Amino acid sequence: MSNEEVIKEAGRYVMNTYNRFPVVFVKGRGTRLYDQEGKEYLDFVAGIGVNNLGHCNHRVTVAIQKQVQRLMHVSNLYYNEPQVSLARLLVKHSFADQVFFCNSGAEANEAAIKLARKAAKARGGSERYEIITMENSFHGRTLATLTASGQEKLKSGFEPLVPGFKSVQYNDVSAVEKAIDHKTAAILVEPIQGESGVQVPRDDYLPGLRKLCDEHGLFLILDEVQTGMGRTGRLFAYEHSGIQPDMVTLAKGLGNGFPIGALLAKAQVAEAFSPGSHASTFGGNPVACAAAIAVMETFFGDDHLLENCQRMGEYLVRQLNKLAQKYAFVRAVRGKGLLIGMELGLEGRQIASECLTEGVVVNCTAEKVLRFLPPLIITQEEIDRLIAVLDRIFQRRAA
Ligand SMILES: Cc1ncc(COP(=O)(O)O)c(C=O)c1O
Repeated sequence: MSNEEVIKEAGRYVMNTYNRFPVVFVKGRGTRLYDQEGKEYLDFVAGIGVNNLGHCNHRVTVAIQKQVQRLMHVSNLYYNEPQVSLARLLVKHSFADQVFFCNSGAEANEAAIKLARKAAKARGGSERYEIITMENSFHGRTLATLTASGQEKLKSGFEPLVPGFKSVQYNDVSAVEKAIDHKTAAILVEPIQGESGVQVPRDDYLPGLRKLCDEHGLFLILDEVQTGMGRTGRLFAYEHSGIQPDMVTLAKGLGNGFPIGALLAKAQVAEAFSPGSHASTFGGNPVACAAAIAVMETFFGDDHLLENCQRMGEYLVRQLNKLAQKYAFVRAVRGKGLLIGMELGLEGRQIASECLTEGVVVNCTAEKVLRFLPPLIITQEEIDRLIAVLDRIFQRRAA
């Protein structure tokens, strides 16, 4: 099928839930994507923080191929070794004692919400079920996770919503403190808000929330679906803050493109689940787990991925700040590691579209924020190419 045919057929057969750019990608290698016509693109989106090791990473591809030939699926009524090995690796490299596997970020957050309710009720009685979340947060599109998300536009038309959530201002510990009452079970928060424009909180924010949780007997749940798996220069973003959460949710980069989600938890929380409490047919699927084991082994092998993420992140911020000095419509540059936002005084989608024409894939979120989340293997030369393209496009705007 030609480009035009794919797009036309998509309009006919695929539900209209995405505002897509008119490109059909057919191949990916490292930091590059290729379309139907063979045009090469430099990828600064990485599937929105998914292909952290680059497209078709060799180790991950081989691990998937081997597992596909051995065992593709087995019910969770039985054991499979990749699931156990992955859980052990995640526990070894995190605060957690146990893991629940699922298939996506929303599902991981659903599991966290259910576990928080079950564990809090066991501790504090049936009235303890409320979860405090943050304004402008994003936790997924299932009914409970969109209710948890602090954005009205996601909820409109889907009422009645799930009871038991209230949202307060992000980056404000006292707003959370004021919202706590006898019903509060947990605080659910992104260490950096990704979808709402890469909002980085103050350094004392997560420690402040940890303290509140300790004082009031609440669970601190970190949604690391976007910030986890090396994106901010550490395996998990909470590592920057010096605190330990009670639960962390993961997806996106965990399988480097193979769908998998996970809820990590401390033992005293995890023990609230028992057989029958929660389940997922495909959760902990051996192929998905084989992919994620390869991802974990790459992070702790000789690839120096986290170090490259930190160095390239700092370099990208420096170069973007130079553009900010040159063009008055650039309002701010912010981020951590390779999760970086550039806030503009104008609509960003058209800029992202022009970048695509120039062979660079860039995301726009929250209408006016260009978001950069390239594979963590990105090089200085590739960043220079992005900056040159942005400079050209910005120059046309400024003229
Ligand atoms: C912080 C955060 N949580 C949850 C989700 C939902 O993940 P999924 O689309 O895999 O359900 C996303 C997706 O962008 C996210 O960024």
